[in-house]
Amino acid sequence: MNFQLTDEQEMIRKMVRDFAEKEVEPTAAERDEEERFDRGIFDQMGELGLTGIPWPEEYGGIGADYLSYVIAVEELSRVCASTGVTLSAHVSLAGWPIYTFGTEEQKQQFLRPMAEGKKLGAYCLSEPGSGSDAAAMKTTAKRDGDDYILNGSKVWITNGGAADLYIVFAMTDAEKKHKGITAFIVEKGMDGFTMGKKEKKLGIRSSPTLEVIMDNVRVPAGNRLGEEGEGFKVAMTTLDGGRNGIAAQAVGIAQGALDKAVEYAKERKQFGKPIGQHQGLGFKLADMATKVEASRLLTYQAAWKESEGVPYGKASAMSKLFAGDSAMEVTVEAVQVYGGYGFTKDYPVERYMRDAKITQIYEGTNEIQRLVISKMLMQD
Ligand code: CAA
Ligand code: FAD
Repeated sequence: MNFQLTDEQEMIRKMVRDFAEKEVEPTAAERDEEERFDRGIFDQMGELGLTGIPWPEEYGGIGADYLSYVIAVEELSRVCASTGVTLSAHVSLAGWPIYTFGTEEQKQQFLRPMAEGKKLGAYCLSEPGSGSDAAAMKTTAKRDGDDYILNGSKVWITNGGAADLYIVFAMTDAEKKHKGITAFIVEKGMDGFTMGKKEKKLGIRSSPTLEVIMDNVRVPAGNRLGEEGEGFKVAMTTLDGGRNGIAAQAVGIAQGALDKAVEYAKERKQFGKPIGQHQGLGFKLADMATKVEASRLLTYQAAWKESEGVPYGKASAMSKLFAGDSAMEVTVEAVQVYGGYGFTKDYPVERYMRDAKITQIYEGTNEIQRLVISKMLMQD
């Protein structure tokens, strides 16, 4: 077993870290405060090739592996979790299903501009009445000649409004329950496709989260992704990899908070010495660092499995579960290390703590990850 990153993976980490520290971190607090999404940052990620890391060059990507991709999400999230999820939703949730289930024509038409950073993607599964129970969706798609007519609404859509392409799941045959779900690529600007309420959130506030409304949206059959009735499989297999993107986001948030905590523990003096030299606080930092490292190893392992073509669904559910819970614990402790100052917006650790919470909720709550893992254990 070799835990050494390749030269290419190290090079991508260095490039993303430089970019994140120079171009993303300086405005992170301000964008959080103003709940402002910056399309310019996404455009810059496109110029660097980050928007298509795992896709082959023939589809506009850079042909690197999934480990390089999760390293990129981690490094962005180390300074700004909102930017991390913008990339994760774009690549894992919108790009991956097109790469995996799309026709050659769909890959050229939709995946290529996404990989090149010219178009931003989103993934629309959740509805007001169906979050964890994703198969209970009510959105419908009715065949009408060469088109489908979509009706319904999706909620909590990351990149909503800003995105150009939306992977939408709808019922083509409700009687068949999950076997009656079909996936579509819906394009911004299609008649009847509009945005509803923008959520005001606790964390990841510069990542836009919107309701998406479909009122008789006519979608050409050529935009159907996969076969009729195959949509639940498209949705679930997409989430298998997407969850590891969120694990990487959690690792980045936790690492960022740990870095800030260590820095402060060296500087701040009480009782005549740096607070990190008081054993009570030093042990806290040790536990935080250990949780970050364990989360990272699970996340990298799941990414490696995906690249190697080894089943990775359980590994991803585990990485998201452990890294999400750890990020929450580590960021709460980072605030504690800062004492009263940690409770203010003068220091970034409160933002890390607010941002960490979402990693336990989206792409399947951590209760749902436990459900997925336990079901698989019973099948093994
Ligand atoms: N891969 C392939 N097939 C799968 C699968 C997987 N990972 N998981 C389930 N299936 C298949 C099953 O094999 C089964 O197939 P058959 O009917 O042919 O036997 C079928 O799907 C139904 O399986 P279940 O009975 O297990 O399905 P369920 O209705 O009980 O739901 C669930 C399972 C795992 C709880 C699922 O509903 C789920 O993942 N819920 C959470 C939803 C979620 O994660 N939403 C995230 C939205 S995106 C987001 O949040 C974005 C963001 O963060 C940026
Ligand atoms: P519910 O399903 O109502 O769950 C409520 C509580 O009950 C949770 O604690 C849950 O764990 C628990 N629970 C439910 N069922 C069980 C069970 N069987 N066993 C034990 N506990 C259970 N969705 C998208 O489709 N696309 C997106 O881009 C997207 N982005 C998001 C961004 C943000 C900021 C947020 C907040 C959400 C986003 N989501 C997105 C939706 C997200 O995936 C759902 O919020 C999540 O899956 C939970 O669904 P819910 O909110 O309806 O909670």
